[in-house]
Amino acid sequence: MKHLLKMQDLTKEELFELLDLAAKLKAEKKAGIPHPHLAGKKLGLIFEKASTRTRVSFEVGMVELGGYPLFLSSHDLQIGRGEPIKDTARVLSRMVDGVMIRTFGQNVVEEFAEYGSIPVINGLTDYAHPCQVLADLLTIIEHKGTTEGKKFVFIGDGNNMANSLIVGCLLAGMEVAIACPEGYEPDAEILKNAQATGRFTLSHDPVAAACDADVLCTDVWASMGQEGEAEKRKQAFAGYQINDSVMAAAKEDAMVLHCLPAHREEEITEKVFEAHAAEIFDEAENRLHAQKAVLVKLMA
Ligand code: CP
Ligand code: NVA
Repeated sequence: MKHLLKMQDLTKEELFELLDLAAKLKAEKKAGIPHPHLAGKKLGLIFEKASTRTRVSFEVGMVELGGYPLFLSSHDLQIGRGEPIKDTARVLSRMVDGVMIRTFGQNVVEEFAEYGSIPVINGLTDYAHPCQVLADLLTIIEHKGTTEGKKFVFIGDGNNMANSLIVGCLLAGMEVAIACPEGYEPDAEILKNAQATGRFTLSHDPVAAACDADVLCTDVWASMGQEGEAEKRKQAFAGYQINDSVMAAAKEDAMVLHCLPAHREEEITEKVFEAHAAEIFDEAENRLHAQKAVLVKLMA
């Protein structure tokens, strides 16, 4: 594993190695045991979109590993004035030991990895959000004991989260059901590969999809960069919500995940959100532990 650009970059073995390492780093942190695996190493953090969890987890994670994070907003970088990605990649490769990028096109992280000579981590693109899915799987293991054989249901937009969750949850041995409005399906190739596993269903009926779910998950109706479509999307996604009817179809002990930020009364009701806040904020905390595992694997 040289980079983490999308969940498809991981084998099942590598996925569980990362999750085991994340759990170990979390336990060490709770016990006050230092783990300076990246002493003296530098990580560049390029952001072309807003972030709370991703920025803080990578910055704090790098410090806890003994390294040094550099926050690089694209507004201040020469990228923002049109300097090519392939040139930025070659420059940063001579100065830092790894880079995390949050941007729009998946082609940007792929091009950075191709031209640079340091590990590249996808901190969210329009296509994928692998770092979040590692935290999600860690949280499922903590709350359910295992991912194997559990039913994972995603209700909402076939976006970066849906794409990465489908690949990650299937790789982790789960059964996966997606309910999304027509015209808002996940990536076609991801769907094709998912269908071939025999453990995947796609429907337009949230309650039917939620039947017997162990884990329910959703995400915003309009992602970063889609602000102009927000009104149109509100119409299209009406009913694609985690609410009491959806919860009633799931298993009684079903857990709820949301990558955050959440829009209450849109993709999830305030009531369901607050009833499952313990799981959702464990998930947010686990960004830190999961991201540290990725950094150690790629940069130590
Ligand atoms: N879930 C997530 O990636 O959060 P941020 O956008 O705050 O980084
Ligand atoms: N789908 C959302 C996820 C935010 C963490 C977005 O891309 O804005």
